[in-house]
Amino acid sequence: MSTSDTGFGDVVAVRRAEVADAAAIAAIVNHYIARSTANFRTEPQSAAEWEREIDAYGGRYPWLAAVYGDEIVGLAYAKPWNARQAYDWTAEATVYVAEGQRGRRVGSTLYRELLKRLEAQGFRSVMALVTSPNPGSEALHAAFGFEPAGTIRDAGYKHGEWRDVGVWQKMLAELADPPEPTAPVEG
Ligand SMILES: CC(C)(COP(=O)(O)OP(=O)(O)OC[C@H]1O[C@@H](n2cnc3c(N)ncnc32)[C@H](O)[C@@H]1OP(=O)(O)O)[C@@H](O)C(=O)NCCC(=O)NCCS
Repeated sequence: MSTSDTGFGDVVAVRRAEVADAAAIAAIVNHYIARSTANFRTEPQSAAEWEREIDAYGGRYPWLAAVYGDEIVGLAYAKPWNARQAYDWTAEATVYVAEGQRGRRVGSTLYRELLKRLEAQGFRSVMALVTSPNPGSEALHAAFGFEPAGTIRDAGYKHGEWRDVGVWQKMLAELADPPEPTAPVEG
């Protein structure tokens, strides 16, 4: 577990997300599904769906929870960018901070740890999809060295409008040629 000063004198701990966190994670993300275009789902996700996701991906990709006291205040995780084998070294990252806790560096704390772990596992790059506009997410990705790699115009229709989605990519360490398979998540 690692800790970080949020800049407000609070301390947030980052640890591996567990299946038992699924209900808290669902509550955080369902807020943004209902109220924002950051997530292109239009229907809430159940805790059971999150349990299956953590179970399916948590062994190969980092799945992290930010904890303040005994409350989960954010999550960041990675998944395959594409299931076809040649993409095995390309991950897709996602981060959500609970409404009310945003702007306190929880997202930065989570992303620092997520990216460090992905690099240590031997991923070559990390992708992120960011619906426009989302100044907070764009600032976070730019601050961590993601670069805009293009825009999917009118990628989705949500809350009464067509929405563009920005594609962002961050390169990690160069790998051997041919690369070793990525390492599993530790612990
Ligand atoms: C995007 C999000 C994860 C950022 O996490 P956060 O804890 O609020 O952000 P932080 O406090 O760590 O700030 C990270 C950087 O973004 C900047 N930032 C944060 N919110 C911002 C905003 N609304 N507008 C502009 N910049 C913003 C900060 O200034 C900081 O930049 P710096 O390092 O140059 O100072 C969070 O706001 C969130 O969950 N948003 C809703 C869901 C979402 O959009 N998820 C991303 C899907 S792609």
